[in-house]
Amino acid sequence: MKSYDIQTLIPPQQLQQTIERLAREIAADYEGQSLLLVCILNGSFIFTADLARELSRHNLEVEVDFMKVSSYADSESTGSVKMDFDMSRSITGRNVLIVEDIIDTGRTLEHLLRLLRTRDPRRMALCCLLDKPSRRVNGLQADYVGEVIDDLFVVGYGLDYNHRFRELPGIGIMNIEE
Ligand code: XMP
Ligand code: MG
Repeated sequence: MKSYDIQTLIPPQQLQQTIERLAREIAADYEGQSLLLVCILNGSFIFTADLARELSRHNLEVEVDFMKVSSYADSESTGSVKMDFDMSRSITGRNVLIVEDIIDTGRTLEHLLRLLRTRDPRRMALCCLLDKPSRRVNGLQADYVGEVIDDLFVVGYGLDYNHRFRELPGIGIMNIEE
């Protein structure tokens, strides 16, 4: 049996402070407007829930919708994403904030943003909890970044390893011992 060693990288209290800061930044940019948060499943479910609740303390109208996308196994060459399920409403003319757990190479989001732009949102921005800029293969940059991290495999707070560890309250570095 494999045993897993998970070392804390970002404890829950620090995540909470980061989310409070992100909500302040977002609220300052959308003050008095409406904002549709698009949670990119599965990894962003906890982050989106906490960000939405934090935004409720500010003066803006928030709605939440969900999308599930996955990168094709051969995305290194084709760079395409597979839509597992789409959000339920139109984004035409809306302020849309894509909420993502982590940006790694940036391929998934590059293709997702290209697709969503064809639907004519009023304004589209990207918020990611974690950013691994050293892995980027394109110039993609999020408008709101929680924490910049090194090239490490992390789990917890929605992020998984083989479907596990999403429930952990903080972000940890995963070391696999065979
Ligand atoms: P790209 O490379 O397209 O992919 O930016 C981003 C997606 O890759 C996954 N990913 C991770 N998942 N721990 C995870 O649990 C990580 O350290 C990690 N790095 C990348 C994640 O699904 C993200 O949406
Ligand atoms: Mg993801």
